[in-house]
Amino acid sequence: MTSGLSEAERAAGSRLMARLAAFAAFTDEPGRLTRLFLSDAHRRAAAALIGWCAEAGIEARIDAAGNVVGRWEGRKAGAPALLVGSHIDTVRDAGRYDGNYGALAALAVVEDLARRGERLDHALEIVAFGDEEGGRWRTTLTGSRALAGDYPEDALDQKDSAGILMRDALARFGGDPDEALRLRADGVAAFIEAHIEQGPVLEAEGLPIGVVSAINGATRLEVGVDGVSGHAGATPMRLRRDAFAAAAEMALMIERRARGEADLVATVGRMEVWPGAANVIPGHAQFSIDIRAPLDPRREAALADIRAEIAAIARARGVVATAAITHEAGAFTCDPGVVSGLSAAVGSLGVPVRVLPSGAGHDAMAIGRFRPSGMLFVRCKGGISHNPLESITEEDCAFGLAALTRFVRAFRVG
Ligand code: GLV
Ligand code: MN
Ligand code: MN
Repeated sequence: MTSGLSEAERAAGSRLMARLAAFAAFTDEPGRLTRLFLSDAHRRAAAALIGWCAEAGIEARIDAAGNVVGRWEGRKAGAPALLVGSHIDTVRDAGRYDGNYGALAALAVVEDLARRGERLDHALEIVAFGDEEGGRWRTTLTGSRALAGDYPEDALDQKDSAGILMRDALARFGGDPDEALRLRADGVAAFIEAHIEQGPVLEAEGLPIGVVSAINGATRLEVGVDGVSGHAGATPMRLRRDAFAAAAEMALMIERRARGEADLVATVGRMEVWPGAANVIPGHAQFSIDIRAPLDPRREAALADIRAEIAAIARARGVVATAAITHEAGAFTCDPGVVSGLSAAVGSLGVPVRVLPSGAGHDAMAIGRFRPSGMLFVRCKGGISHNPLESITEEDCAFGLAALTRFVRAFRVG
């Protein structure tokens, strides 16, 4: 394909790739990238971002909810802002682009404006959310929900696996738990998030970037199964109430239910078994369920079926199961104005405009309930994500950044 990138846009893409590589060094686990919300690696990554902003003459800080935020004033001080960014927390053993791409691309856009001393009619605010993956506590999207004035009240009193309260970790990080509950980014006019696609569509169609139309809704549950521990040698099979065997049957039922319906996906991504010994029948099992669909009624129907089946399996096996919802986000349609602005930016680069839905969840879902929001996708190799093999090319990186920059320049507060 003929590239519509200027030399300067290509160079900006190379700088962003180099920075993404450097940023991946901020990890909680040497040898692999794991950066959980409010962890030490998150603190170091946030400090690096704030430092890069300072070098560019942009003042940035950690806000009450643990987001890194920075502002580049418009021609008139106090003008409404276009918010640009993504998240910098990661899953365990992550790739380096999920979230980080959009956060560092936002920084690159502002650095470019600052380097030229260019002021726009609107202000530009950049944001690096800290809690998109929900990998440490059960809630997710607390950073973006805070900016939307919708902080989940019960989030702060959750404990992580080490018994640390989110409230205490947030205060130690430099946030303010009480203030987070009252936060609302009223000066924001719209939000735009660049992100790797995390799916295979752009690659299959030979396109470097695409525009997101909508984001699937999601429900997460935490299921606990109580059976009876016992001697693995002395207890006959017919007299067992094995919590793990029941949980495993539930996991297979969930997979079957999702396989039976196009576009519905469901995952048991974490399973813990107690007491966890080779010679003890498991007395307790606990697992997560993540259900997603493009249409809320279909996700809700799947949820109802899965809950009923969990109860039926528990009854049949003589165990007790509880299932609690820990996260729920309705399907989200991107703002038509933002979609058309992004489409124009993509088209201006000589790239055919492909508008596609997102199966993964994003901070744009939370901000989008408050202000017009949209997303730009960058092709990733094999559609692989949540995996250290996540990969993008330098050229695609440059296309994404160029489209984002062109959108930001053309944006007008409507
Ligand atoms: C975030 O990556 C999610 O979709 O779970
Ligand atoms: Mn992400
Ligand atoms: Mn992710």
